[in-house]
Amino acid sequence: MKPREIRPGVYWVGAIDWNRRLFDSLIPLPLGTSYNAYLIRGSERTVLMDTVDPTMEQVLFRNLEGVERLDYIVSHHAEQDHSGVLPSLMSRYSEAIVLCTPKAKPLLVDHLGIDPDRIKIVGDGETLDLGGKTLRFLHTPWVHWPETMTTHLAEDRILFSCDFFGSHLASSALFAGTEPSVYDAAKRYYAEIMMPFRKPIQKNIEKVRRFEFDIIAPSHGPVYDDAGFILSAYEEWVSDDVKNLVVIPYISMHGSTEAMVMHLVDALVDRAIRVHPFELTSADIGDMAMALVDAATLVLGTPTVLGGAHPTVLSAAVLTNLLRPKVRYAAVIGSYGWGSKAGEEVAGALSNLKVEVLEGVMCKGLPRADTYAALDTLADTIADKHAGLP
Ligand code: FEO
Repeated sequence: MKPREIRPGVYWVGAIDWNRRLFDSLIPLPLGTSYNAYLIRGSERTVLMDTVDPTMEQVLFRNLEGVERLDYIVSHHAEQDHSGVLPSLMSRYSEAIVLCTPKAKPLLVDHLGIDPDRIKIVGDGETLDLGGKTLRFLHTPWVHWPETMTTHLAEDRILFSCDFFGSHLASSALFAGTEPSVYDAAKRYYAEIMMPFRKPIQKNIEKVRRFEFDIIAPSHGPVYDDAGFILSAYEEWVSDDVKNLVVIPYISMHGSTEAMVMHLVDALVDRAIRVHPFELTSADIGDMAMALVDAATLVLGTPTVLGGAHPTVLSAAVLTNLLRPKVRYAAVIGSYGWGSKAGEEVAGALSNLKVEVLEGVMCKGLPRADTYAALDTLADTIADKHAGLP
């Protein structure tokens, strides 16, 4: 693929990873991803914005054929999917200097072995004139690591945002448009990657909004040609508002927990509450994370294994705890044979969440009338808590 022009003198030179299906050995990528690098040619200097994943090194080098000199390489983020080709590029372009934040410099040295003498730290708001194109570096920590930054290109009204606003979406389209599929991919990415940093993101959105831009060029997924589309989506996701939605990740071994979950689902629907159960042996955890972006309540369903929670449910609880969704209420339901600490174990795994823990329901053996009555009471409690939510 040839470099693709975004604006005169600004080119996409990244790599599309159509077949990648897992990130960080954890995050499902059902739609693949891309690693976007951008080449900017001013009248006096040429700059590369980020690199690509090391597996795509040859693709980047092909895209840079004919580029004889790189004055600078901007490293917005030290994670290897964007900085991994820096060592090879620094050898190929012996004059190139890496520009990054103060916190990025030791990460680039430690993780990639970059010569510290070839790294220049840029201050927050510092500008660089390329000749007719002016870059302004904005420190935007925690999108996705503490060292991250974005860059504003004033003349072309472009914001280069790296992971911020990205989507794991392999697409032949250079520009995202405003299709629902683009929205869904960006929301999934937010849920899986950005949700733990909701509060810093609120500040970073305010910060970048002070500058004028029409285009957001992230380092994963298509380029947003309607910046307002993704900005307003993010503003909703990071807001403190929750929706009238209950998410129920669960496992069942012999049917008791599933019967309880399905009764609770029906009871919630009867009370005009949206509900999304996830049977965890088959669920995509990215879908679960997406649902948690909006949900007001989380209910985890677990059977008892060797006296404790089912490990798969515990794993979902640990992941949810790491993702820090803005849920307000949580409960645990489930079943056991002769004794159980499953409820305490699962609730104890949610310590990062600022939730009110509602009284759960644990059932010995098969659920009976009193079990279903207790689940109805839980549904009543959730309905009271959700009153007025959209
Ligand atoms: Fe796309 Fe945090 O790396």
